[in-house]
Formats: sequence, C-alpha cells, structure tokens
Amino acid sequence: MNDNFSYFITFEGLDGCGKSVQAENLYSRLKEKKIPSLLLHEPGSTPLGEEISKLLKWSDEISLDPLTELFLFNASRAQLVKDVIIPSLRKGMVVIVDRFTDSTLAYQGYGRGIDIEIVEQINSVATRGCHPDLSILLDVPPEEAARRQKPGKDRFEAENAHFYRKVRQGYLQIAEGEPDHWLVIDGTLGVDIVSQIIWESVTNNLGRPGL
Ligand code: TMP
Repeated sequence: MNDNFSYFITFEGLDGCGKSVQAENLYSRLKEKKIPSLLLHEPGSTPLGEEISKLLKWSDEISLDPLTELFLFNASRAQLVKDVIIPSLRKGMVVIVDRFTDSTLAYQGYGRGIDIEIVEQINSVATRGCHPDLSILLDVPPEEAARRQKPGKDRFEAENAHFYRKVRQGYLQIAEGEPDHWLVIDGTLGVDIVSQIIWESVTNNLGRPGL
C-alpha cells in the first residue's frame, strides 16, 4: 500500500493502566493492514534513551530532584524526536509512542508539583514543535492500576496512592482542556473492547474507517 499516512499517536495513563498492551495491539493491526508503522516508548527507544530510562527508573542510590527528572525525560525525548520520530513522520509512517509529553505534564507537573508552564516550556523545546495528532488516555483508578502492576516496582511504581491520584487528576484535566485531541477510554473495560474503540477511532482519523 502506498498511502502516505504520516500520523502521530501517543498512549498515556497510569502505570498498570494497560496502555502498553493497547499500543502493541494497534501496532499489530496496522502492520497486518500493511500500513507503515513504528512503535516506540518513552523514556527509551534510542541507545541514549534506554540508558536514561535505567537511571530514572532504577537508580535507588542516586538522588534525583523533580527538576532533574524533568530534564532527563526531555533529554531522552529530544534525541528520540530528532533521530526517529521526525524522520519517520517525514517518510509517511504512523508513529505510535507509549508515553510522550503528557506523561511529563501529569507525572512531573501534577504529580511532583513542578509549575505546569515550566514543564510545558521544557517539553516544547525537546519536541521541536512535533505534536501528536491523537492522544489516547486509558483512565483507571489508581487502586486498580496498582493491583495490575507486576512485582519488582521501579521508582515511579513505588510511589504512593496520593501521588497517583494527582497524576490521574492531571491527565483528566489535560484531556478535558483539549477534547478534540484526546480519546479518553475507561481502562477497566475488557482488552478487546478497548482495542476495538481505539481501532475505530484511529482508522476514522486516518480517513479510512475500518481500513
Ligand atoms: P514505563 O516504561 O514502564 O512506562 O515507565 C516509565 C515511568 O516513567 C512511568 O512510571 C511514568 C514515568 N514517566 C514520567 O514520570 N515522566 C515522563 O515524561 C515519562 C515519559 C514517563
């Protein structure tokens, strides 16, 4: 198929909300339909990003200030946007990213309490004006998200329920502010139902309902 789709989709939500499974399902369905697509995740998806991810998630003995977190997530992002996202969109691919700038707004802004305008400014420097066409929020209550997490918690998964309530409220507020941009889905629905809702929305947005 020669169609040039060039479409940028991000998945967002609390740890344990099920977004990674949904991002993979969407990617597989697009591949089945021979739509040139790429699945990435943040932090990571470049050699530098994977190193930064290890520091951010697993560095128990190194102190990491919220502002340092903000810069590290955006350092990983700056490299990913330049090396992978922009070139892939230029080639006409559908680019799916498991977490992007709204994770930073929700976690470092609403969760850690960094001024939202500062988070937006740093995010926008790192992304060089590259914005998702569609962002998908899988909304689940923090208690349900915590129940679904695997054993062996990283620095973020080890945060308490109060932190996750602030992150969830942040996500809902961000999505409410831009209703045309966001697809908010009840993440407690079954995996197949959620996959179908996402598939219908994405194919509609690509101008090819059901493909
Ligand atoms: P994950 O790779 O399992 O999704 O873990 C990434 C963790 O990092 C997750 O807990 C969310 C957090 N995070 C932020 O706090 N800010 C960010 O900008 C991003 C991308 C992730």
